[in-house]
Amino acid sequence: MSTIEFKSLGKRFGAQAVLRDINLRIEEGELVVLVGPSGCGKTTLLRILAGLEPASQGQVLINGQDMTDALPRERGLAMVFQSYALYPHMTVRQNLSFGMRMRGTPKAVIEERLQRAVAILQLQELMDRRPGELSGGQCQRVAIGRAIVQQPGAFLFDEPLSNLDAELRLHLRLELIRLHRELRATMVCVTHDQVEAMTMADRIVVLRDGQIEQVGTPQALYDTPRNRFVAQFLGSPPMNIFSAAELPVPAGLAGPTPVSHWGIRPEHLEMCEAHDPQALTMHVLHIERLGSSDWLHGTVGSSAHRICLQATAGHRARAGQHLPVRPALQQVHLFGPHGLRLDSGPRAETSTPA
Ligand SMILES: Nc1ncnc2c1ncn2[C@@H]1O[C@H](COP(=O)(O)OP(=O)(O)OP(=O)(O)O)[C@@H](O)[C@H]1O
Ligand SMILES: [Mg+2]
Repeated sequence: MSTIEFKSLGKRFGAQAVLRDINLRIEEGELVVLVGPSGCGKTTLLRILAGLEPASQGQVLINGQDMTDALPRERGLAMVFQSYALYPHMTVRQNLSFGMRMRGTPKAVIEERLQRAVAILQLQELMDRRPGELSGGQCQRVAIGRAIVQQPGAFLFDEPLSNLDAELRLHLRLELIRLHRELRATMVCVTHDQVEAMTMADRIVVLRDGQIEQVGTPQALYDTPRNRFVAQFLGSPPMNIFSAAELPVPAGLAGPTPVSHWGIRPEHLEMCEAHDPQALTMHVLHIERLGSSDWLHGTVGSSAHRICLQATAGHRARAGQHLPVRPALQQVHLFGPHGLRLDSGPRAETSTPA
């Protein structure tokens, strides 16, 4: 399996810089998930890695070798797109074996690899059907199978699960995780799905406007986001963030550095007594019921900041109510100038490795 490294990688389309100074090393067998707002450059980064798009600057190294200008087939990578890109006139069996046949792979080897992929992805029943006779999820499994039989040094997935319904998504997500374990494969995966990113990744890379904002394990990014952007991007519903000028930092937390904003995740707010010294008054506007827990949406403070609290089912809060709530002090995030995390916060000891 391959290691992958980007060195000062940049990409322009005309005057627009879509990737800037990307430096990232992906270890052998690692599963790295790329996240970021639409248009931030995730697909472009994968396409440059695959050799489908030239870089404007910097280098792509695969197994330590400079592959910046290598042809796609010289890189030993397999890419699976959101659109499955199967050949419509071929059966599943033909789709799976086509690449190997073109490369003159011996018949016995083709058969052996097919059987392995078919077993992993449970494609037995589908082998003689054409893509038009398959569901979206089945097509996606075939597309993943086609990547597996290539025995690539790394798999690149661009939102491979986003066209699927919730149940199938979960099923294929677990399959991808299992695949990663079984093949000990290096994988780079783009997703818009929070849960996918958190559950699949060894490390998450957060991109914004073509630049890396933070790299770290899912837990590190959740616990110690480097800045306000990462804090609000990861987590669902997102972290509540308040201006310290409008809603004072909870007593005892502010250090010597001036705090411009502070944040608390919805799951780290709880209902409390009105006389609690840390109590904030939340005006509950709307309650989303999820079964096991509820999301209470409302406002807080005179300036009507939006706030969300996650409550376990069985609470007695009602829409329209003024509810005393308090942040778990250990879970408060402090941000200073330029939105950067202040390490004077209570969780400073768990700061993120870059
Ligand atoms: N061939 C191209 N020519 C010009 N601009 C392009 C081209 N491909 C992508 N772009 C621009 O580059 C930027 C990054 O696009 P990219 O597809 O990498 O975003 P993304 O992060 O994958 O977004 P999404 O989450 O919507 O898929 C966008 O502003 C896009 O419009
Ligand atoms: Mg994309």
